[in-house]
Amino acid sequence: MKVLVTGGCGFIGSHFIRVIFAERPDWQVINLDALTYAGNLANTLDIQTHPRYRFVYGSITDKDLVNTLVSEVDAVINFAAETHVDRSLMDNEPFILTNILGVQRLIDACVRHGKRFHHVSTDEVFGSLGPDDPKFHEATPYDPRNPYSATKAASDHLVRAAVHSHALRGTISNCTNNYGPYLYPEKFLAIAITNLMENRPISVQGDGRQIRDWITARDHALGILAIIERGQIGHTYMMGGDAELSIAQTARAVIKAMGAHEEMLKFTQDRPGQDRRYAINYSKISTELNWKPQVTFEQGLEQMIRWYQENESWWKPIKQSSGYRKWYEENVGRLT
Ligand SMILES: NC(=O)c1ccc[n+]([C@@H]2O[C@H](COP(=O)([O-])OP(=O)(O)OC[C@H]3O[C@@H](n4cnc5c(N)ncnc54)[C@H](O)[C@@H]3O)[C@@H](O)[C@H]2O)c1
Repeated sequence: MKVLVTGGCGFIGSHFIRVIFAERPDWQVINLDALTYAGNLANTLDIQTHPRYRFVYGSITDKDLVNTLVSEVDAVINFAAETHVDRSLMDNEPFILTNILGVQRLIDACVRHGKRFHHVSTDEVFGSLGPDDPKFHEATPYDPRNPYSATKAASDHLVRAAVHSHALRGTISNCTNNYGPYLYPEKFLAIAITNLMENRPISVQGDGRQIRDWITARDHALGILAIIERGQIGHTYMMGGDAELSIAQTARAVIKAMGAHEEMLKFTQDRPGQDRRYAINYSKISTELNWKPQVTFEQGLEQMIRWYQENESWWKPIKQSSGYRKWYEENVGRLT
């Protein structure tokens, strides 16, 4: 099996490639990545010289490049995306280009060459839940609330449409909040851990009661592998982590796991369009494909903290860059 992984220098894509090399000794991987601010070659440092790996620098919006690469593989797994909600509120154009046009380019090439396509999507397309609402499931109506989730919703619809109109051999997965090693330090858990390591507080937006369901990127990657191999064509599969926690509870869990003081938790102003609760019912993938998360939140958090402690050389250059410092001061708080 030869697969094209797009966005494999990002957080989850790089975990997926690592999972493939560990679990499927005969698979080959081409990684197509445009190396945006979120794409980091250091995420793939341990796999760059792997004999079954090839990196191609380029964009999923590049029609000719996509067409050529898709013709060379058996399947395409799309992780490439603009993914940060706050950035989508400031400038939606890269989101529309990559998350909509880019996905359509991949679909077109897979249809042209008759290739299997798996699209990695998010639970954010379903909007927000009230405290007592049932969890999101495969038939939950779409209700995106910000430009990021709206573009991801659009891409899901494009995949579904192509399954019907052009017999695309496509599947979709919608997953909840991922965490683990290599999480870019503009995402909450990575900021929280590295801030405590730098003796800075953890900032929580609003009242901190927004609920997220946390899953490790490795568990997510294992679920995607199961879908590619055994999922039903045209189907959507939801994945969650069995770890519904408010942001304030999550921050406190980090503080406790790192032995820091409660005073390191600070509350700041809410961002616009903040969703209150995400949670996933993953019974379909569990019943059909025998998938469930392998680690608890406590285990995953401990592994993540240890990784950040042992890999300062990965995150410190990011946090010290002028682009990151500017983003942090504009979105989180003053850096002294
Ligand atoms: N992070 C989460 O919690 C989460 C949860 C559910 C679903 N998802 C989905 O999983 C996927 C991966 O998320 P992530 O957190 O790893 O994202 P990320 O931002 O860490 O990585 C995205 C990668 O895509 C690359 N990329 C961006 N535009 C590109 C383009 N035009 N062509 C080629 N490459 C491009 C970037 O360089 C980067 O390497 C996304 O589609 C996201 O919507 C993420």
